[in-house]
Amino acid sequence: NWNMENFIADQIELIRRQVGDGKVLLALSGGVDSSVVAALLIKAIGKQLTCVHVNHGLLRQGEPEQVVRVFGDEMDANLVYVDAVDRFLDKLAGVSDPEQKRKIIGAEFIRVFEEEARKLSGVSFLGQGTIYPDIIESGTKTVKVVKSHHNVGGLPEDLDFELVEPLKMLFKDEVRACGAALGLPDSMVYRQPFPGPGLGVRCLGAITRDRLEAVRASDAILREEFAAAGLEGKVWQYFTVVPDIKSVGVREGKRADEWPVILRAVNTIDAMTAEIEEIPYALLKKITARITSEVPGVNRVLYDLTPKPTGTIEWE
Ligand code: XMP
Repeated sequence: NWNMENFIADQIELIRRQVGDGKVLLALSGGVDSSVVAALLIKAIGKQLTCVHVNHGLLRQGEPEQVVRVFGDEMDANLVYVDAVDRFLDKLAGVSDPEQKRKIIGAEFIRVFEEEARKLSGVSFLGQGTIYPDIIESGTKTVKVVKSHHNVGGLPEDLDFELVEPLKMLFKDEVRACGAALGLPDSMVYRQPFPGPGLGVRCLGAITRDRLEAVRASDAILREEFAAAGLEGKVWQYFTVVPDIKSVGVREGKRADEWPVILRAVNTIDAMTAEIEEIPYALLKKITARITSEVPGVNRVLYDLTPKPTGTIEWE
């Protein structure tokens, strides 16, 4: 009979049989799928796995630290932490076209990962958090080499790893249950969807460090207040966006030009259409007060009331 304990036991057996005493490499973003596959591989083959976490500077507040804490410290995995923040932000400087931004982020990710792969010797397997909906979406022919960056092709041909994909028959809710059974924290397993290009598509237009920090800090406040209000896990996606415009406001008695922060909170079944979440007015006011007082360079907070269509969930 199928249950999660049996699934995990079976997969551990299958992974050990496939890998033998070989070495496995895994790109660990800290998202649900890569985290669960990491936990499963660590349980199955321990130090035969090397996880590479690329911090591209576009992750939410606290996420790179959580990856290091959970996998490096608590699970004692082989974890390579790559601080690639400057590299990504330098490549993205002055680039305002959203598709171009996505391409640069995806291509640079592959490049950094490839460099790390070449530093390790004797690796013949690549772990991947492929799940069943990924297979349905991509058909039977194309395998996404680094899953969340699928527009970019993949690793060079001389790095031809055999794939290890233990989650490929699971739906998302089963992946989450698997992660919970493996002891991953709820904040990792039940977190909201987050785009591959991360905060990069929420810092509208050409990314600058100060506006990026405004997105990250305001997002952290929004998440904190949603959690305090019991909305965490009840709303599909909630985040902030910082456009590349300023408006005049008043700060310490003087006129000052600063950015607005846009709040977005939506519910959806399949992300094809979406309805807005009706955030209580008192909560909106509290979030507004915190963002305008705690986030440098921000003097206004706007609330996006647009369903999809006509809006998309993200702003670019
Ligand atoms: P839109 O904005 O098209 O978003 O309504 C639908 C869902 O897809 C996510 N999204 C992305 N995910 N890479 C991703 O992995 C991307 O480039 C990307 N763009 C949008 C978005 O967060 C929403 O859940």
